[in-house]
Amino acid sequence: MSPAITDLVYLLAAVLFIFGLKGLTHPRTAVRGNLLGALGMLVAVVVTLLAQGIDYTLIVIGLVIGSAIGAILALKIRMTAMPQLVALFNGFGGGASVLVAGAYLVVRPDSAADILVATAASGLIGAVTFSGSLIAWAKLEELKAIRDVRFTGQQALNAALFLVCLGLGFLLVTQPASANLCYWGMVAVALALGVFLVISIGGADMPVVIALLNSYSGLAAAATGFVLSNNVLIISGSLVGASGIILTRIMCAAMNRSLANVMFGTLQPSGDGASADDVYATVKSTSPEEVAMLLEVASRVVIVPGYGMAVAQAQHSVSELAKLLQARQVRVEFGIHPVAGRMPGHMNVLLAEADVPYDSLKEMDEINSEMEQVDVAIVLGANDVVNPVARTDPNSPIAGMPIINVDQARTVIVIKRSLSPGFAGIPNPLFAADNTLMLFGDGRRMVTDIINALKEAS
Ligand code: TAP
Repeated sequence: MSPAITDLVYLLAAVLFIFGLKGLTHPRTAVRGNLLGALGMLVAVVVTLLAQGIDYTLIVIGLVIGSAIGAILALKIRMTAMPQLVALFNGFGGGASVLVAGAYLVVRPDSAADILVATAASGLIGAVTFSGSLIAWAKLEELKAIRDVRFTGQQALNAALFLVCLGLGFLLVTQPASANLCYWGMVAVALALGVFLVISIGGADMPVVIALLNSYSGLAAAATGFVLSNNVLIISGSLVGASGIILTRIMCAAMNRSLANVMFGTLQPSGDGASADDVYATVKSTSPEEVAMLLEVASRVVIVPGYGMAVAQAQHSVSELAKLLQARQVRVEFGIHPVAGRMPGHMNVLLAEADVPYDSLKEMDEINSEMEQVDVAIVLGANDVVNPVARTDPNSPIAGMPIINVDQARTVIVIKRSLSPGFAGIPNPLFAADNTLMLFGDGRRMVTDIINALKEAS
């Protein structure tokens, strides 16, 4: 295939990627966007494989093994473990960039300076992405040995490791005779840098870290595209890099973390606020029947789902509850916090799966502005994203994080199994507020019981 035709098809793939990303900006078009992106990737891969002089044996072996692992992972993964999978994918992307750029250097150690600069960038960013992502994966898997390793001088060490990487990268470009040695030396130091950058970052920042590592994996791929002079790799890597950084900024805003803090692994406050016993002194519990009675006289209900809805797989029940209430002329909306659950868009995905109409999903700011007019706010398995401490305690680990202000609704029903804390590990005074009733139990079970109680009462 002539280079001109290859480039033309690459352009088509790039257009498909861009339309794919556009589609992903709204739940209604997300599935189509995903398919368009995948089609773009298929086109790009097929055209690349049609190039002259390729030995297909290794490629076919790689494709078969990789596809089998990918298919098994995709089929078996629990929705709640999706962030870990994304972390692994990012890491493998970074690792692939390191290996491809390194292999090219073995074949062409005498490349022009611009190619060598791209090789160094690919190795540095790819290696940081690889080891950082594996640490992020291990932390999300809650492997005890890995969690929150912190020591004094960690940031100075990170800065020193980064400078060593830059130095080795400089030598790689200026001393072609020892380019391979410098490259692999730099990769080794960058692997250590990735570990130390991520290992100190607290759990509540992990989604931001994963989005950032996603961006890094794109930048590494784009650099590898320059090494190989492959336009579609440059374009797709840049798109991943840019969209990853945009997502990172959105996540930072949602969690009130600055990007610089996250990048340099700044520690979060320890959150040694009030003890759970003090906070929960006035908790009142309720029953599904009592909740049903409250809902019968409500005219506006807001449901705020969180991680517990995903654990309980309560999305279908809650969709049924919403329909039941709507049939009785109750206005029902869902308040969606940007970091509810364990991955970006987690709640949207679950609710879409349960056929909840997109129109009833309201973003945090939109629902907050009307919360005082809400009769009943049902908090289903959410905790940190409705914790008023974020507004009131500057020393809390979630200080300044925007929350859904359910406490401003007339009555709040919190459905969860116990008074256990959420992801940030802190008590939630909402549970003991005057206008809050706790419905203790599994999310799906409790919602089903409320539905039954509503049906029995009518
Ligand atoms: P969390 O604060 O983690 O609270 C979830 C609550 O769900 C827990 O308190 C738990 O209480 C309850 N729960 C668990 N299983 C349940 C079940 N079967 N039925 C009913 N309730 C159940 O969740 P959130 O409010 O969604 O906040 C998300 C947190 O995760 C934030 O701190 C965020 O920063 C962090 N985070 C977010 C992401 C992204 S990108 N979304 C990624 C990683 C981390 P019980 O045990 O008492 O039931």
